Amino acid sequence: MNTSRKIINHTNNEDRMISFHDKLISDAGQIARAAGQLILEMSTKQRQISYKSARDMVTEVDKASEDFIVSEIRFRYPDHEILAEEGGSTISKSSSYRWIIDPLDGTTNFVHGFPVFAVSIGIELDGELYAAAVFDPNQNELFTAGLGKGALLNGAPIHVSKTLELGKSLLATGFSYFNDDYFKLNMELWASIYGKTQGLRRAGAAAIDLAWLACGRLDGVWEFSLKPWDIAAGALLVTEAGGIISGPQGEALDLSTGHIIAGNPNIHPEIIKEISLFKHRL
Ligand code: IPD
Ligand code: CA
Ligand code: CA
Repeated sequence: MNTSRKIINHTNNEDRMISFHDKLISDAGQIARAAGQLILEMSTKQRQISYKSARDMVTEVDKASEDFIVSEIRFRYPDHEILAEEGGSTISKSSSYRWIIDPLDGTTNFVHGFPVFAVSIGIELDGELYAAAVFDPNQNELFTAGLGKGALLNGAPIHVSKTLELGKSLLATGFSYFNDDYFKLNMELWASIYGKTQGLRRAGAAAIDLAWLACGRLDGVWEFSLKPWDIAAGALLVTEAGGIISGPQGEALDLSTGHIIAGNPNIHPEIIKEISLFKHRL
């Protein structure tokens, strides 16, 4: 019996049956995984680095990953709008779908060989987060989510942690490359929150922080002045895994401000409370 043929037939039947929503999630996952593999392949070669600012780097790998992702989207969904970090954006007047792409989240880590970086692909429908994929090529972990469909890690359901209190929590944050005021504010916040938790982490890739919150490795995440592509996919992972993500005072998440407070339902209000001491600076 030809087993591989059987598997191919099975996939074809499933392809015919899956909804457009499922297809979007699956395509986002496939594209993120392939881009992540491309990043790993390119990582063995000498990297050409340019600087957007003193700390904000971009390599030809960021650009190659974005070119690949954008060409895949244009091939599969030619009318969809694209917002991509390295300039591959396209406006669409005819589609309600928008793909929001960080082709390499964690570029500083990547440049140093610190193995915490990811490809992040979020898809909005009519301005609402609808599908998501974050692929971590170092761990071979693909996180996916669809609005109302839950969140998965390599195909298995994931949930946020059940940690009840800040004193038992592990949290993560990051520091803005663009805004010195938010950088200073977050250094003060770090000092003020650190001793109230079991630990804080600054791993250097916001999409990974959110994916790790979604699967319970972290209990909360906050950061200020991120960009939409850092947040879009991870935000849906968090909410579909049973967590909460909001602005700094608990208001609805706004991708354009880039301020995020995320956590399991017990820890989210605790972080908001800690940040409220500094809210006049946000
Ligand atoms: C950065 C990472 C980092 C965060 C920065 C982001 P990039 O993205 O997500 O964790 O603290 O604010 O800009 O530049 O590596 O794609
Ligand atoms: Ca990023
Ligand atoms: Ca990036």
